[in-house]
Amino acid sequence: MEQKIPAHIAIIMDGNGRWAKKRGLPRTAGHKKGAETIRKIAIACNQKGVQALSVYAFSTENWKRPEEEVDYLCKLPRFFFNRYMEELKQNNIRVRFLGEIERFPIDTQNVILSAVEQTSENTGLILCLAVNYGGRREITLAARAYAQDVLNQKADLAIEEEAFGKYMMTADMPDVDLMIRTSGELRLSNFMLWQNAYSEFLFTDVAWPDFDVVQLNKAIDEYTARDRRFGGLK
Ligand code: IPE
Ligand code: IPE
Ligand code: MG
Repeated sequence: MEQKIPAHIAIIMDGNGRWAKKRGLPRTAGHKKGAETIRKIAIACNQKGVQALSVYAFSTENWKRPEEEVDYLCKLPRFFFNRYMEELKQNNIRVRFLGEIERFPIDTQNVILSAVEQTSENTGLILCLAVNYGGRREITLAARAYAQDVLNQKADLAIEEEAFGKYMMTADMPDVDLMIRTSGELRLSNFMLWQNAYSEFLFTDVAWPDFDVVQLNKAIDEYTARDRRFGGLK
């Protein structure tokens, strides 16, 4: 069967820590391997014609982890972009982010902003990193910005869904079509609550560091076979 290509794939990249533990490695080794998986999957999605790939890299809840692990996760964007920026550029990939990066160390913020800027003219896949991101926080910030616009008489009180969606961090991106969570957990963990309203969910036991193009194809095959009705009848 010919694959239907989702316009927007979102991935909760889970299981880095367990992957490392199983191999007797520190949890950080799992995060490093997980960053390499992002590169592989982004390039594959770009080749397949996916418009946007959003990956959950750090949640608003992940600050609760031990300081050492949080520090490591804060440094990962620099490792990732130092290593893969050229390749991302060559592949015409556009980097974006979701979340409030102000809470990260300044050099991490700069690395992310520079990646966005260096790839802003690209026209291929949007690789969207969710960093210090939480779905409820995003909706709360959107509500605040909208309320401010109402006060400033820039927005109408009787706003519709589509217009309110423009206040989200994903503003001009399509809704999520396929949401994948790796490593066996069956929950959303506060990821893209607005954008996942009608996405197809796919859960796999494979840990994120082991996720590969074969797994991606399996996920897209399953998505292709799903019957999406959006509340209507077929
Ligand atoms: C996902 O892997 C990456 C982040 C949350 C940053 P985990 O670190 O949650 O790995 P597990 O779930 O403990 O195995
Ligand atoms: C979700 O994974 C966040 C990211 C993948 C960045 P977690 O491992 O933090 O989620 P919980 O704690 O299992 O809900
Ligand atoms: Mg986890």
